[in-house]
Amino acid sequence: MKNFEFCAPTRMIFGRDTHLQVGKIIKEYGFQKVLVHFGGNSARKSGLLDTVVRALEEEQIDHVLLGGVQPNPTLSMARRGIRLCREEQVDFILAVGGGSVIDSAKCIADGVANPDVDVWKYFMKEAVPEKALPVGTILTLSATGSEMSNSCVITNEETGLKRGCGSPAHRPLFSICNPELTYTVSKFQTGCGTVDIIMHTLERYMGDSEGVSVTDRIAEGIMKSVIEAGRIADASPRDYEARACLMWSGSLSHNDLTSAGRTFLMQVHQMEHELSGKYPQIAHGAGLSALWPSWARYVCACRPSRFAQYAVRVWNLEMNFENILETAMAGIQATEDYFVSLGMPVTLRQLGVSEDALEEMADKCTGHGSRTLPGIRELSRDDLVAIYRAAMGEA
Ligand code: NZQ
Ligand code: ZN
Repeated sequence: MKNFEFCAPTRMIFGRDTHLQVGKIIKEYGFQKVLVHFGGNSARKSGLLDTVVRALEEEQIDHVLLGGVQPNPTLSMARRGIRLCREEQVDFILAVGGGSVIDSAKCIADGVANPDVDVWKYFMKEAVPEKALPVGTILTLSATGSEMSNSCVITNEETGLKRGCGSPAHRPLFSICNPELTYTVSKFQTGCGTVDIIMHTLERYMGDSEGVSVTDRIAEGIMKSVIEAGRIADASPRDYEARACLMWSGSLSHNDLTSAGRTFLMQVHQMEHELSGKYPQIAHGAGLSALWPSWARYVCACRPSRFAQYAVRVWNLEMNFENILETAMAGIQATEDYFVSLGMPVTLRQLGVSEDALEEMADKCTGHGSRTLPGIRELSRDDLVAIYRAAMGEA
C-alpha cells in the first residue's frame, strides 16, 4: 500500500427532507449573503428552487439567484457568476443541481476569492487556487461526486477545451443529499450517472494493485451495489433505496476512498473530457460508456489478471485459469452489455462523432503528442487515435 492522505471534510447531510434544513444550516455558519446557483429548468419545475428560497427567507438570509448553468458548464457562465458575487458582496455559494451546477459554483468560488488571478489559469495548470469562497450543495443528480470531490471541470467555449482543476479548496463545506430529489432524473441521465459512478471507481481500481486489498474490496462492493441499484432505478425511478444507493455511492466513488493507497490515472476520463469539450451536447456519462469498452480491450492484455479479478469479483464470472485473458474479456463484455441494458451508447458513432474529430481529440489530450498518459498501458497520441477509432464502431 502506498502512502496516502485521506481528507474528506465535506459535511454530508443525507436523507429524506434534508433539503428543508438548508436555511438553518447556512444560518449556523453565519454567512451574510448567498448566491443560489442552479441549472436550466429542473430545479424550478420541481419546486425545489422555491423551497430553497423560502428556507432562506425564513432565516432572513439575504440571497441572489443565478440560473442557467448548462450541462458541461462554461467558463463564460462562471465569469458572470464571479462578477455578480463581487457586485453583490456574496460570501457563500449554494449550488442546487448536478455536477455541472456544482462545478460552476466551485469555479465562481475560485474567482471571487482570488481576484488577481484569471480563473482559467487554474484549469490550464498555470496556478493552483489555494483558497475559495465556501460552497454548499443541494444535490439533485447522482453521478459526478462533485458534492464531495476536490475536482472542478469547466469548458472554455472559445477554445473548446474542457479541463479539470483539483484543489482541497474545492471540497464543499456541506452537501445536502436527499435521494427523493433525484426521482425526476430521466432514464438517460440516470444511466449516465450510473456509468459515471462505476467509472470513478473502476478507473481507480485499474490503477496500482499492490497491497490495496481493502481498497479493492471497498471498490468492488460499491460497483456491485451500483450495478444493482442502476438497474432498479432504471426500471423504477421512484425506488428510494436504489436512488439512495446511487447517491451515496456517487459521493464515495470520487472522494478518494476508492483510491486510498494506490496511484492511478483516469485515462478514459481524460479522453472523455476531450470528447464533451469538442461536443458539448454529449453528456459525460454517455461519453464514458462509449469509450470504456474500446479502451479496456486495447489495454487489457497488459494486465489481464486485473481485469479477470474484476470480472470474477464484480460480475460473478468463472475464472478460466487456463486462459485468464478470456475471463478478462468476458468481464469487459459484461460491462458493455450492462451499459447497453441501461440504454447507454457504446460507440462514438451513436453519439454523432465524426471520424475527422478523432486526431484532433488525441492531439488535445496529449499536447500534440508531447506527453503520454501513464496507466496499465502507457498511451501515446497514436494509441489514443486507435482507441477513439475502435470506439467509433461499425459504419
Ligand atoms: O439544467 P437542469 O434543467 O437542471 O437539468 C439537468 C441537466 O440537463 C438535469 N437534472 C439535474 N438534476 C435533475 C435533472 N433533471 C431532472 N431532475 C433532476 N433532479 O440533468 C442534466 C445533466 O446535469 P449535469 O449537472 O450536467 O450532470 P452531471 O451531474 O452528470 O454533471 C456533469 C458534469 O460534471 C463533470 C462532467 O465532466 C460534466 O461537465 N464532472 C465533474 C466531476 C467533479 N467535479 O468531481 C467529476 C466527473 O468525472 C465529471 O467530469
Ligand atoms: Zn466522471
